[in-house]
Amino acid sequence: MEIRKVGVIGCGLMGGGIAQTCAQAGYTTIVREINQEFLDKGMARIEAAWKKMEGKGKLTAQQAAETREHLQGTINLEDLADCDLIIEAVIENMEEKVRLYPALDRLLKPEALLLSNTSSLSVTQMGAVTKRPDKVAGLHFFNPAPVMQLVEIVRTLSTSDETIATVQQFAQSLGKTPVLAKDTAGFIVNFLLIPYLISAIRMLENGTATRDDIDTAMKLGCGYPMGPFTLLDYVGLDTTLWAAEAIYDEYKDPLYAPPPLLRRMVQSGHYGKKSGKGFYDYQ
Ligand code: CAA
Repeated sequence: MEIRKVGVIGCGLMGGGIAQTCAQAGYTTIVREINQEFLDKGMARIEAAWKKMEGKGKLTAQQAAETREHLQGTINLEDLADCDLIIEAVIENMEEKVRLYPALDRLLKPEALLLSNTSSLSVTQMGAVTKRPDKVAGLHFFNPAPVMQLVEIVRTLSTSDETIATVQQFAQSLGKTPVLAKDTAGFIVNFLLIPYLISAIRMLENGTATRDDIDTAMKLGCGYPMGPFTLLDYVGLDTTLWAAEAIYDEYKDPLYAPPPLLRRMVQSGHYGKKSGKGFYDYQ
């Protein structure tokens, strides 16, 4: 199946980055937010990234103008009706997703694919509330989506071979390297990354070392681009908590039990970089 028009649902940190990536790859892209304020904020973030790329000479003025033309924002779900492929990047809440998927299923043409950017929720459950579970799969991007090379393609028991082949081709056309995972909580990356991040929080709770020394240790000792606290703030503490809870719910493995400090920080609205405060201050 040929993909021409891509719809992205959600223009937050991930949805915006995904919409930016699709537009940069030349796809006619439409991104939908729930209200004008959120849409304006998301579109401004994408525009800032393009300005920066232009400034660095990574996009010529003509390329930048063409790329801008590929992207349109909307607050109406109906505007996505003629899309060939949807990437859903709404809040990590299953109630929200199971409300959205039947509506999309009714709206879209029968052959359109429905992909979720979920990092740890059941893609199977999302497919099960549609009449096209064979055309539902996960396509999980990493933050910052325009830069990180990996995408995880998530296959449910119902996803067809044809869907997987189309999604693999689509991912490659975005310049990404796809890996394939079964629909299990955390897939590959978060199943391994979450214990590392929450172990760093436990070390801080235990007083083993300071925030800065733990970050320095992992950057310089392991060659990671960011230490765990910088990365936690970058990914979002709310997102990390949801991912840890989803994997813990599935396996009941204490390795994934969210540490109290993580919960308290999220309860306080300290989500990391996006809220201006996390383990570091960004005011
Ligand atoms: N659009 C376009 N380009 C962008 C961008 C964006 N939104 N954000 C950053 N960039 C570009 C920069 O312009 C820069 O380009 P040049 O090298 O050409 O100058 C490049 O990316 C690197 O950015 P910076 O110079 O600002 O900073 P950096 O060298 O420190 O790299 C980083 C930043 C790429 C984020 C790097 O620190 C990194 O790789 N960090 C780890 C990120 C990571 O692990 N992400 C995965 C998180 S897990 C997740 O997302 C999954 C989940 O479900 C929770």
